[in-house]
Amino acid sequence: MNYQNPQLMLEPGSIPGGAVRWRSPSNIAIVKYWGKHGVQLPRNPSFSFTLDSAATDTRVAYGPKQNHGATIDLQFRFAGEERPDFADRVSRFLESLLPVYPFLRQLQLQVETDNSFPHSAGIASSASAMSALALCLVDIERILFGQPEDQADFNRKASYLARLGSGSASRSIYGQSAIWGQTGEVEESSDEYAIPSAELTHPVFHTFHDDILLISRSEKSVSSRAGHGLMENNIYADNRYAQARQRMHELLRALRTGDLEKFGEICESEALTLHALMMTSSPPYLLMEPNTLAAIRSIQAYRRDTGHPVYFTLDAGPNIHLLYPGDLYPEVRQYVRQELLPLCADQQYIADKVGTGPLKLETE
Ligand code: DP6
Repeated sequence: MNYQNPQLMLEPGSIPGGAVRWRSPSNIAIVKYWGKHGVQLPRNPSFSFTLDSAATDTRVAYGPKQNHGATIDLQFRFAGEERPDFADRVSRFLESLLPVYPFLRQLQLQVETDNSFPHSAGIASSASAMSALALCLVDIERILFGQPEDQADFNRKASYLARLGSGSASRSIYGQSAIWGQTGEVEESSDEYAIPSAELTHPVFHTFHDDILLISRSEKSVSSRAGHGLMENNIYADNRYAQARQRMHELLRALRTGDLEKFGEICESEALTLHALMMTSSPPYLLMEPNTLAAIRSIQAYRRDTGHPVYFTLDAGPNIHLLYPGDLYPEVRQYVRQELLPLCADQQYIADKVGTGPLKLETE
């Protein structure tokens, strides 16, 4: 897919102004993306559930640029405040999109963005943030140039752009679940963008809950970006990529047939493998906290005692994602409150679930 288009420029003198706003959710990977090459291309395919309430709201206002510099003209606010660190990342991202969207150079852009969850919660927000921004940009393209018309093309382009901002963001474009990365088993899958996978999954997975247990709220000591980089010299890297492909194959079968036990086995192994890869990087690092382990032990015991299909996964951080079918919610809620909340920072958790995907919002 080549989205580069030097022709995508506006008629000088008749550049309109406007604004768009999108809300885009975070996602939780079951088979993890860990390791990349080239321009944000994954070393292996990954699968994630799209979340519902953990989301980013982004508004992009645009108008003709006053100065005629060749770079991006951006004003940026996060939660109503200037954040030079975030602004820099967004600026660099927009800059990198100039071969695709040369017209961005002609615009003055105001980006206002906020998360539905506290930033200090320490949960990864690049997936929701970058996908919300990508959706705004493709929407602006559609307003200014009448393209892409077709909804599938719109989503594919948004996913492609989101990927350039943050790999995992490519998967947040679709409701329920998504696959990013080429796998021979799923036609149309690609390393360049994610594709929707709701139709490949048994209905039980559409009901899944994800309770995000905020074990620690301290900033990550090693960013995902740096973590991916360390995979380049990890002696287990090649085996890992082969393993991820094999697990993807098994996961797809479990998702299709509704095999919860197999799903859970892969889900938990992937979480531990991700952290094992961090521990075997050079230099090695450790993102789990004592309470991460305490929660894992508790979840395994609860599963053994009740027989309920309740599984954990982890992102590149200490927080636990507790995944289970929706019909268990009343019971699991009690368990979480009694046993797991005492392990969380300030007894905080986010009760989330599989969601319907991004939403275009009114601009006031
Ligand atoms: C552990 O997408 O945050 O969450 O592409 O460098 O922005 P960049 O990395 P990022 O990596 C996420 C890794 C993960 C697993 C996953 O979501 O698949």
